[in-house]
Amino acid sequence: MTLLKYIVLFIVHQTVVSIKYEPNWDSLDTRPLPQWYDQAKLGIFIHFGVFSVPSFDHVPSWFWKYWHDKSDMHSVEFMKKNYPPRFTYQDFAAEFTAEFFNAEEWAEIFNASGAKYAVLTTKHCDGFTLWPSKTSFNWNSNSIGPKRDIVGEFSAALRKKSSLKVGLYHCLQEWFNPLYLKDKESNYTGQEYVKFKVQPALYELINNYKPEVLWSDMCELKGPAEYYKSQEFLAWLYNER
Ligand SMILES: *[C@@H]1O[C@H](CO)[C@@H](O)[C@H](O)[C@H]1NC(C)=O
Ligand SMILES: *[C@@H]1O[C@H](CO)[C@@H](O)[C@H](O)[C@H]1NC(C)=O
Repeated sequence: MTLLKYIVLFIVHQTVVSIKYEPNWDSLDTRPLPQWYDQAKLGIFIHFGVFSVPSFDHVPSWFWKYWHDKSDMHSVEFMKKNYPPRFTYQDFAAEFTAEFFNAEEWAEIFNASGAKYAVLTTKHCDGFTLWPSKTSFNWNSNSIGPKRDIVGEFSAALRKKSSLKVGLYHCLQEWFNPLYLKDKESNYTGQEYVKFKVQPALYELINNYKPEVLWSDMCELKGPAEYYKSQEFLAWLYNER
């Protein structure tokens, strides 16, 4: 009986240590869903960023796009009525002071709610990062606005003051990033944006903050997974992290 138990344990151990995911969907899809996630039932999702300043209309995180494209005339009128003519979306960043942001207070409230994880928008489609990202020069929460590492405070507070798992949302695309637009123009045969922006940012998020959930999003359903190097990234994530 005991011998059998050891043999079983040995096999289980060998299986666990020897699984190596390959960068293709067949292999990646064999990874089991983490049990805690399967049972979590309730998570919290937070949109927070430069768009929180105008915080306008029903989808505030899309404000810049709607206003820029004039696809929602409410936002155009809102800007005309409330801001000087040459005011830009970038000007909102200085007003994004996050003066009342208290991550530990959030964590305590979240914990009391019974939720099992919380996800923060670390970078939405406007490209502004809530952490001092090396790939988002001067367009991040440490250089302008709060002058704080919001992602760092969020992750540390959840771990200190709650039982919630840390979730980080990251939008693959950026509406107006010239590198992205250039790749798109080439029908995604160019990969500059992915090489110099997306991948380094994802590695930073994972290595610096070690989230239990990475919530990946797109603001337009464009570009194949091969363009984003999604399979390579996930194989690295599943194998190394
Ligand atoms: C979070 O809430 C759980 C109950 O759901 C409790 O057991 C735990 O102590 C709380 N964690 C912290 C750090 O307050
Ligand atoms: C763009 O690439 C896709 C394959 O990724 C192809 O199906 C499509 O025809 C291409 N479009 C143009 C305009 O070249």
